[in-house]
Amino acid sequence: PRHVTRAADGALTVAGLDVRQLATEYGTPVYVLDEDDLRSRCREFRAAFPDADVYYAGKAFLCRAVVRMIAEEGMFLDVCTGGELATALAADMPAERIGFHGNNKSVAELARALDAGVGRIILDSFTEIDRLTALARERGVRPRVLIRVTVGVEAHTHEFIATAHEDQKFGFSLAGGAAAEAAFRILDEGVLELRGLHSHIGSQIFDASGFEVSARRVLGLQAQIRDARGVELPELDLGGGFGIAYTTQDDPATPQELAKRLHKIVDAECAAEQLAVPHLSIEPGRAVVGPAVFTLYEVGTVKDVDGIRTYVSVDGGMSDNIRTALYDASYSATVANRASTAPPLLARVVGKHCESGDIVVKDEFLPADVQPGDLVAVPGTGAYCRSMASNYNHVPRPPVVAVRDGRARLIVRRETEEDLLALDVG
Ligand code: LLP
Repeated sequence: PRHVTRAADGALTVAGLDVRQLATEYGTPVYVLDEDDLRSRCREFRAAFPDADVYYAGKAFLCRAVVRMIAEEGMFLDVCTGGELATALAADMPAERIGFHGNNKSVAELARALDAGVGRIILDSFTEIDRLTALARERGVRPRVLIRVTVGVEAHTHEFIATAHEDQKFGFSLAGGAAAEAAFRILDEGVLELRGLHSHIGSQIFDASGFEVSARRVLGLQAQIRDARGVELPELDLGGGFGIAYTTQDDPATPQELAKRLHKIVDAECAAEQLAVPHLSIEPGRAVVGPAVFTLYEVGTVKDVDGIRTYVSVDGGMSDNIRTALYDASYSATVANRASTAPPLLARVVGKHCESGDIVVKDEFLPADVQPGDLVAVPGTGAYCRSMASNYNHVPRPPVVAVRDGRARLIVRRETEEDLLALDVG
């Protein structure tokens, strides 16, 4: 996070607070959110895209306090389940600023979204068009919808988080004609208000050319719809997926740079197709919250394995960060409670779970005197760590503490063993 520095004695501070104090007060592991960092990233996206709606993708990390923060910063919110919708509404997110995603929204979820008055629903299948059409008819309402288009772009990212190649579950295929057919069906039936097209090509993407190809292709479809039905759809959503730096090797684009490239391609394509430039929206999740959080762990054991490497075990692991095991993601780590003049040691930061794949940071140089009781900070854990956390091995999930102006505030409390047992009713 932006407001992390090392104090004179070598300990990390965040927004003026000593991490040792945070560890004492809240225990470890703990996710520490630099609130001003998150807010400044919202502001940077909004400044870079002043005429667009910036939807924060809540799947990256969602709780009421964060909903309020992003709402205060003028963001919109993308939710993709009833649970995320409930959290958004519980934090008084204005419903008209919520977009509802998902490839398998149930009738109950769609009904709830309609009754709450969400601003738009992003449609993902013909089944869903029929479902929503029936619900809208029953209620006599005309929900605003977008069509999620699968544009056939091979995004250069991990297979599990790429979403626009043809052979996957999301959206309507552009090449196969399903996307055009969906648009025609909605327009011809006239029950739903088709506002525009949507594409999301994947996540943790650094090469902006994927967004360019996808924008070009959806605008091609936009022109096709205009030619066939005489309707120019007023909105276009280019999705999220903007990469962040997990290690010093990553070099992400700034929101300004992204905006420049996206606007350029959209303007050029609209000119070529003689389309009015649609109202744009984007959906960054990771790029808003990812860098704003670090996880603070305590070291429990240090084991040298025959000169191969040193295993530093911390008091969490794959239950609070599954990304290393699941996507082979890279993180960094640093000893957070003190400085050290010891030489660097090739370490692997591992968790306390019962499998050898329980790795938090694959390779990191830590000072050779790293020892039980030290605190280790792993930055960049704001996105998809707490939100994908589990109770594997009955480990309660860590709390989230927001820090701002030298003050800490608990925004998600630590789970307890009682919480876990409360579900166990047999
Ligand atoms: N919009 C849509 C329609 C999405 O499906 C997603 C992410 C986003 C926006 C936000 O993407 P972001 O800007 O955060 O990259 N669990 C994986 C990431 C899955 C992303 C799913 N969809 C991970 O930990 O990397």
